Amino acid sequence: MKNPFSYSGKRCLFAGCFSGMGEATARIVESLGGAIVAADIKKPTTFGYERFHEIDLRDGRAIEQLVAETARGGPIDRVFYCAGLPGTKPTVDVIAVNFVGLRHLVETAIPHMPRGGAAVGISSAAGLGYMGAIPQLMPLLEIEDHGAAMQWVNEHQAELEPYSFSKMCTIVYTLRRGAPLAIERGIRLNCTSPGPTDTPMMPHFVAQTSQAFFDAYPKPIGNRFATAEEQGWPLAFLNSDAASYIAGENLYTDGGGGAAMMLGSLQFDVMAAMQK
Ligand SMILES: NC(=O)c1ccc[n+]([C@@H]2O[C@H](COP(=O)([O-])OP(=O)(O)OC[C@H]3O[C@@H](n4cnc5c(N)ncnc54)[C@H](O)[C@@H]3O)[C@@H](O)[C@H]2O)c1
Repeated sequence: MKNPFSYSGKRCLFAGCFSGMGEATARIVESLGGAIVAADIKKPTTFGYERFHEIDLRDGRAIEQLVAETARGGPIDRVFYCAGLPGTKPTVDVIAVNFVGLRHLVETAIPHMPRGGAAVGISSAAGLGYMGAIPQLMPLLEIEDHGAAMQWVNEHQAELEPYSFSKMCTIVYTLRRGAPLAIERGIRLNCTSPGPTDTPMMPHFVAQTSQAFFDAYPKPIGNRFATAEEQGWPLAFLNSDAASYIAGENLYTDGGGGAAMMLGSLQFDVMAAMQK
């Protein structure tokens, strides 16, 4: 029986793989036999790659060049978009890297992907409220052109909480695009929504809220945050043939904390105190 988890013979474009979840996922995919084309603002050192592209993912033209150069080397079987910025960074940059760049890279890569291909992105537990925010998200979701989308972001930045906004956009884009993309091109698109995870981004979240907030944050599994590897395996699964009937899915990788808080079986004391 063929191992559907194997990445043997698959060429995988990784955007955001210097550190954290992207770096861990690239190591996992390499161990499963995949060939990696790496792209990041910083050069990764912990796994082997066919080629490294130094890129600033805020730049739409650079994303187009990255995809064109990658496609010249062969088919793009899998896309992993793992780059991200925390909400401590400027609003426009956060939305550019976390959502507009993700969508632009996926959409630009699609014509170079074979049927049976797959792409995965990373949202966040911070995107949990997307259902109630759809009217606020749709204006940006409906602007497909990278330049026009960034113009909208520039014009509306004062009204936006960039991190959760970018993560809600990523979820809604993934859920809406999944089925049409599967029908039209035979390509699967999914995302994960991690809870707090020990990566270089974590201290930024603490700075933005407080240590007390994260001490109190529900950690159902082992009373600890996730590791980057624990986020990497679900990403590797979603882009593998083992997930061949999963498309347009947002997989919560938060140890169950978000669902339990939403449905009231876990209380988040700090949040409750804030609401008083
Ligand atoms: N760590 C957490 O608790 C947590 C929780 C939920 C979601 N996330 C999301 O997970 C994803 C991965 O983050 P992480 O925690 O691994 O953090 P990280 O900071 O370790 O990884 C981010 C990666 O993106 C790259 N990057 C950032 N800006 C870039 C740019 N302009 N151009 C190119 N590359 C750029 C960085 O170099 C790095 O490799 C992000 O989308 C983040 O929002 C993180």
